Amino acid sequence: MAEPCDLSVIIPTFNEEENIAAIIDAVDGVLTQNGIRGEILVVDDDSKDRTIPIVREISGRQENVRLIVRREDHGLSQSVVEGFRSARSDILQVIDADFSHPPDLIPRFYEAIRGGADIAVGSRYTKGGDIEAWPLKRRIISLGATAFGRILFPEITDPVSGFFAVGREVVDGAPLAPRGYKILTEILGKGRWRTVVEIPFVFKDREEGASKLRAGTMVDYLRQCGGIVRFSVTRRTGPVWAEWKKVVRFGLVGLSGIFVNMGLLYALTEIAGLYYLVSAVIAIELSIVNNFVLNDVWTFRSIEFLKFKRKVSRFGSFQAVSMGGLVINMAALYLLTDVAGVYYLVANLAGVFTAFAWNYMVNRHYTWTK
Ligand code: GDD
Repeated sequence: MAEPCDLSVIIPTFNEEENIAAIIDAVDGVLTQNGIRGEILVVDDDSKDRTIPIVREISGRQENVRLIVRREDHGLSQSVVEGFRSARSDILQVIDADFSHPPDLIPRFYEAIRGGADIAVGSRYTKGGDIEAWPLKRRIISLGATAFGRILFPEITDPVSGFFAVGREVVDGAPLAPRGYKILTEILGKGRWRTVVEIPFVFKDREEGASKLRAGTMVDYLRQCGGIVRFSVTRRTGPVWAEWKKVVRFGLVGLSGIFVNMGLLYALTEIAGLYYLVSAVIAIELSIVNNFVLNDVWTFRSIEFLKFKRKVSRFGSFQAVSMGGLVINMAALYLLTDVAGVYYLVANLAGVFTAFAWNYMVNRHYTWTK
């Protein structure tokens, strides 16, 4: 049986043969010294150097070290999400393999989450934080990315940090779809959290190996920020807007039905020579069929998984509701005109609206139900 585990330390890697053994050793040492029962999860994107055999060898002799090798959808953020999925504990720590993040700080992140914070962010830009030995170009790019992230999350000084910890419930079930490097921004945008604490740290540029940051990474980041803005707008307005969209579509379909009805009534009576009441029955029925088909393939398309048998019963239900609507319309017309003395065209308008409300609500809950 697996040992109990209080912390999962996720290390994303790509070609880190110079650093990986040392960082595992350092993280393991910090966990042991601080009495934290933790696992170390290396999530590798099919490195071309010796990273994989090195980690395999370590995990063969050290039970708390695991290796995940990914062969598809290459990316730092995607690897971290995969790490979250496989992690055994409820506190998830992310750290780079190249010692740009000091492993000695891991216990502070761990305690912050245990103390009730949802997210603990390692910050280079809060008091006590800093960056050592970065070229000017890298500083400018980072400041740009950070400034952009701070528009979305003003209360957080380093929303693009790669050094952070989260409670599992923040990310479980969150629709994370990150690309590129900025996994923390994605979590802040789409995860479930209330409290964030910041832990200052000094970012040291790697001594071994090379950064994998590319120009495309910035494009990914901008796209990701756009996705987060869209997500938060939809999260607030989505369900209401989706329902109104259906109401508007249902109304437009109803309007098309009026044209079908009037056109057929005219054609069957004037051209085919049928008695006008016979034409009216055919016209009403065919406009109901018209409305059903359009509502089925358009208005409620997102709800139904169309199966023939169900479709027949949906039509039966729609037909019955429409007849009910017709009765409501007629009853309103009669009562308002004859009993209340309202002008008959105004009364009819009230009847049409009442029937529309009936048709929409009853069909929404009985005909096109999930
Ligand atoms: N699995 C996987 N897949 N890991 C990757 C990939 C990838 O495609 N690219 C990079 N890594 C791993 C590296 O092996 C290293 O452990 C860590 O991710 C950071 O990679 P670097 O390429 O060294 O990142 P950086 O120093 O440029 O960027 C760091 O700082 C940024 C803030 O300025 C990272 O921590 C970023 O997450 C952070 O946003």
